[in-house]
Amino acid sequence: MTNRIRLGMVGGGRDAFIGGVHRIASRIDDHYELVAGCFSSTAEKSQASGADLGLPADRVYGDFTAMAQREARLKNGINAVAIVTPNHMHYRAAREFLKRGIHVICDKPLTSTLSDAKKLTKVAEKSQALFVLTHNYTGYPLVRQARAMIADGQLGTIRVIQVEYPQDWLSEPLETTGQKQAGWRTDPAQSGAGGSIGDIGTHAYNLTRFISGLELESLSADMQCFVDGRELDDNAHVMLRFEGGARGMLWSSQVAPGNENALRIRVFGTKGGLEWEQEDPNKLWFTPLGEPKQLITRNGAAASDEAARVSRIPPGHPEGYLEGFANIYSEAAQAIRAVEAGTKRPDGVVFPSLQDGVEGVAFVDACVRSSSRNAAWVTLNL
Ligand SMILES: NC(=O)c1ccc[n+]([C@@H]2O[C@H](COP(=O)([O-])OP(=O)(O)OC[C@H]3O[C@@H](n4cnc5c(N)ncnc54)[C@H](O)[C@@H]3O)[C@@H](O)[C@H]2O)c1
Repeated sequence: MTNRIRLGMVGGGRDAFIGGVHRIASRIDDHYELVAGCFSSTAEKSQASGADLGLPADRVYGDFTAMAQREARLKNGINAVAIVTPNHMHYRAAREFLKRGIHVICDKPLTSTLSDAKKLTKVAEKSQALFVLTHNYTGYPLVRQARAMIADGQLGTIRVIQVEYPQDWLSEPLETTGQKQAGWRTDPAQSGAGGSIGDIGTHAYNLTRFISGLELESLSADMQCFVDGRELDDNAHVMLRFEGGARGMLWSSQVAPGNENALRIRVFGTKGGLEWEQEDPNKLWFTPLGEPKQLITRNGAAASDEAARVSRIPPGHPEGYLEGFANIYSEAAQAIRAVEAGTKRPDGVVFPSLQDGVEGVAFVDACVRSSSRNAAWVTLNL
């Protein structure tokens, strides 16, 4: 027996996207071992996927409720579960495991509806188990550094935030071709009321909140479905008003040719600015007012403690998406171990929470309400 956290997975079967990323991320720092799963909505496909992963047939399930029930009873049952299904299944799956004291690591958005998000909060309040949401961009070292620099006052009072997450893969009606990931993402019953705003706008919003620490006061959203026949937004422009008078603009788009995963954030304060791009994540630009632009590199000469503690290799060797994702898993592992040992969570451990997830779904809900009223200013219904 090892002291690795015994991990289960719901979703992530053959042909799935993010389940494989979670499996890699969970292994990078060797804190977890995948021991069980319900990988698909059909028992046959779940078994085939479990066999691909080398799991014994009796730890592979065709139904996540049965998995939660049996794993909770087993002597060496799972301690934690990764939930990587389409959005509409997150609530029901997370509830089954939380109810039984099994820690949940769930992908975003938290749920497909705001009422499910709020119900999940109630379930979590009654559970000793942790809830971790994989807004993985908060795991990048230089995102941690940007956050620390702002908290330290190096930008002065924040005035302006520009954040964008453009992609191009839904520029045409891919969902009509049977492409699985496009299919559920453009279906309100599975995705929720948001299209691009739920899928990637929530990442941009969470990153904005994580880096700036500013609370949102209100927003005004103008969303479109550019592709004929599509029901959910494939493009959204959102204006943001923050506490203290700061202003922001958020753009999410899945119809912007030439853009892959071009998440980018710029923050400007009275004393200077910061700029970070997900596609070039080992660089952070710092622009102190009246001074030349400074390049901060991951784990380089100017790395902060917050960035260094989540970097693995020397500067100049790139780290990226998988390592950032792994940082969320490693932070979660430290928190899970502290809960299980009844000890204090180690200093510096940070991961997106259930509350961040509720706020993300409330953000989508507010954008939809605003856009349906000709971009009226609205507040989050938290
Ligand atoms: N953090 C990120 O960067 C990121 C990136 C991509 C996707 N996501 C999120 O991850 C989730 C999955 O997205 P994806 O692109 O991997 O989708 P996907 O369609 O590729 O995979 C979903 C998987 O869930 C399985 N599934 C569906 N219903 C199930 C059920 N009842 N029980 C067990 N398994 C079931 C499917 O069979 C499939 O294997 C979504 O919530 C999405 O928003 C996050």
